[in-house]
Amino acid sequence: MTASAKVSLSADGQRLTLDLDAQPREFAALWLRERTPDAETLDPGTGQRLIEAAELPLDLALEEAEIDGTALALRFNDGHAAHFPLAELRDAQPAENAPRASVAAGRTLWDAGLAEPPRADFAAALDDDATLLAMLDDLHRVGFVLVSGVPTDEDGMQTLIEHVGPLRRTNWGGIADVKSVANAYDLTMTQRGLEPHTDNPYRDPIPGYIWLHCLTNAADGGANTLVDGYRAAQLLRERDPAAFECLTRVTPGFRYQDETTWLESEGPLIELDSQGRVSRVRYNNRTERVAALPAEELARYYAARRAFYELLTSDELTVHLKLDPGQMLIMDNYRLLHGRGAFELAGGVRHLRQGYVDRDSTASRRLVLRRRLAENRMEETA
Ligand SMILES: [Fe+2]
Repeated sequence: MTASAKVSLSADGQRLTLDLDAQPREFAALWLRERTPDAETLDPGTGQRLIEAAELPLDLALEEAEIDGTALALRFNDGHAAHFPLAELRDAQPAENAPRASVAAGRTLWDAGLAEPPRADFAAALDDDATLLAMLDDLHRVGFVLVSGVPTDEDGMQTLIEHVGPLRRTNWGGIADVKSVANAYDLTMTQRGLEPHTDNPYRDPIPGYIWLHCLTNAADGGANTLVDGYRAAQLLRERDPAAFECLTRVTPGFRYQDETTWLESEGPLIELDSQGRVSRVRYNNRTERVAALPAEELARYYAARRAFYELLTSDELTVHLKLDPGQMLIMDNYRLLHGRGAFELAGGVRHLRQGYVDRDSTASRRLVLRRRLAENRMEETA
């Protein structure tokens, strides 16, 4: 890396250009100053900032910058000097000519041709951190995992949930039934089929992961359907860019009400991150409430929503999967749409349970496990 690294400063010293492997990246002197990884600026244990960044001079400049091995040696005009690892600067800013990705790195998009769902074993994931990390990596990459060997008692999945992140409690409790009942308060509890949807876009935050556990599934029909919402959004962007743009811009509300609960939130059907990549999909026909926008805007929205819906319900994208007793699905609710075929209770009993786990705690578990296992490997080889 260092062989092809070059650095230069603007005349006023407020901008630094770093050329890594012939790819120029520009950094503001003030940004480098407030992020310099030394014990005076950042706490060595947590990486949290110790200086008050907002009090740094707005015209702060660099007086010197040179490559020193694998780091950039910097001296600022407030007297501060520091070394900044080149690898951190490479990660901090994509190269200007890097190709634009449709989703964040590390995701594998799929469609109906998905050969095999990612699988994990319940007991192995509970007992062995490397297996748990592989499961969480698959969940991150593909958006779902099929787990076998789950105890078929009512809260059978709870031990693994607690091992990953706290169970999210909602107005429906912790782990709740998904089964057919009279006077159903939610359409999930009837025997009718369910169109593909994401869960609970009316909550804030929206549940990050759905854990769906099958205790009995003797009913005829009732197979789960899964669609990769990132893939659907990517296809919409390719085939109908105006529809894609409209669904990233128009922000419908979502509402759930019953006697004791009133939940409301809002957000676009396709949400982009700061780099223009698809980061979240919302689709929940039953609870969506678009505002009474001007007629032309609504006409664009309705056409775009239909185009997206046609993709989300297409054979091209739909994977069918019937859960057996003792299996569970963990699904990324910011990415996957799930549904089910209609089922006939005359054929038997269908009893599933589901719980939610938040996104931040799941990501934290994966990242900490990865760091810990890497440290263990380094210790073993040392
Ligand atoms: Fe659902």
